[in-house]
Amino acid sequence: MMKKKSDKILRHTASERINHWLVAIVFVFTAISGLGFFFPSLNWFMNILGTPELSRLLHPFVGSVMAFLFIFMFFRYLKHNFIDKDDLVWAKNIHKVLQNEEAGDIGHYNLGQKGIYWTLSISLILLTVSGVIIWRPYFADYFSIPVIRIALLVHSLSAILLIITVIVHAYAAFWVKGSIRSMVEGWVTRGWAKKHHPRWYREVLEEEKKEEENKQSQK
Ligand code: HEM
Repeated sequence: MMKKKSDKILRHTASERINHWLVAIVFVFTAISGLGFFFPSLNWFMNILGTPELSRLLHPFVGSVMAFLFIFMFFRYLKHNFIDKDDLVWAKNIHKVLQNEEAGDIGHYNLGQKGIYWTLSISLILLTVSGVIIWRPYFADYFSIPVIRIALLVHSLSAILLIITVIVHAYAAFWVKGSIRSMVEGWVTRGWAKKHHPRWYREVLEEEKKEEENKQSQK
């Protein structure tokens, strides 16, 4: 008798999920302390890491932890984020997407998600490089005042870009029902995969078929 297929498909492994949520938690601490330094009206945010002094001391270390943890995410998800011709169909039909309909033969991620992935990656690289340049007392002394000024500007602009991108990313994650569960519990239903990522679903079916054939040949 054929074994009935489970309705659940693995989308994110446990280590991917832990990696993602650690980055998200560390992001919140760095973003809140950073906003506290930047806007006088938000100075009280500086208490997020204890006291304003402690926040100033810890912010670059916590930021470095975020950048370090993101390296793993970057490489885990890189293969799913190359832009292909089906993404253009998605872009042309963006009006449908905004009405909650699907467009194009979407693989693991759609163009919107890929755009978020690349924006997060670029803004984190810019933040890290500029952050090291302005990091007193350890590194800033190695750079001239004009370089530090440019780095401060880059740091502020890339921080704003990162914060806005994360807000859009989190909004989209809540908007597409079933997405958050995939990053919390790891799985999605077959219906979800077929609806939002049909090409990825066909790849999953192919893999399942191969596994089944391997099992049969080993019997
Ligand atoms: C704070 C709230 C956040 C929520 C609710 C959230 C939610 C999610 C969800 C549900 C997914 C899975 C999407 C899917 O598989 O279709 C995902 C993927 C991802 N998240 Fe987040 N996330 C948050 C913060 C962050 C932060 C702070 C970063 C990095 C700075 C981040 C980077 C990513 C990346 C790189 C992926 C993989 C997407 C891709 O490769 O295109 N997330 N997130």
